[in-house]
Amino acid sequence: MNGPAPVITVDGPGGVGKGTLCQWLATRLGWHLLDSGALYRLTALAAQRRNLPPTDESAVAAVAAGLNVVFSAGTDGVLQILLDGEEVSAVIRSETAGNAASQVAALPQVRAALLQRQRDFRQTPGLIADGRDMGTVVFPNAELKLFLTADPAERARRRHNQLSQKEMNVSLAALEREIAERDARDVQRTAAPLMPAADAIILDTTALNIAQVCEWAWRQIGQRPKIPTSHPD
Ligand code: DC
Repeated sequence: MNGPAPVITVDGPGGVGKGTLCQWLATRLGWHLLDSGALYRLTALAAQRRNLPPTDESAVAAVAAGLNVVFSAGTDGVLQILLDGEEVSAVIRSETAGNAASQVAALPQVRAALLQRQRDFRQTPGLIADGRDMGTVVFPNAELKLFLTADPAERARRRHNQLSQKEMNVSLAALEREIAERDARDVQRTAAPLMPAADAIILDTTALNIAQVCEWAWRQIGQRPKIPTSHPD
């Protein structure tokens, strides 16, 4: 294939089904997957472990630039994330880690420090990029840009179900508050705020199940002849 590998961006707030859709697309197409939120979560965790306040922009940006992280498939095929050699995939998924990530993600120097690392994921045969600014900032020339939304109450309910399955106890009301706070921070920040790219296709997933979301995305891909869909299943 000539030129850089193709990219499909999937942006939107938490709890809209992005993560599941991106994994499904990456498997179906046989493409690489960038979970950009994990990089912000890892930066926040690494900063916290160095006792840095999330407001110390240049120090946190230096941590982001020097992140010692390895993404690898474990023996059971489940993704492992190693930070400084320690497995942290469960630790970075907590609500606390998500909130800390949202704080460091508002710092322009931190975003700049992570930009090239994200772009380096663009490798053949292609990349599915999951985040907030994939279509607007990181991959503005992506072949296809999807943007998912859903009612905040429904997103809190989904998140509550996920956490209950992992036997993590958080009240629905607390989750609704946290989601509202995080949305406000992600949307209102001046550096790469959460918003659809002008050429993104938007889907409200409030009343849809994940199979319907995947089906919709697959239809969008089918309408882009430049995206090869003949990967052997
Ligand atoms: O997708 P996530 O919940 O793992 O993201 C955690 C936080 O990181 C989210 O609140 C905002 C931030 N983030 C970002 O600013 N830009 C991205 N591309 C991905 C995540």
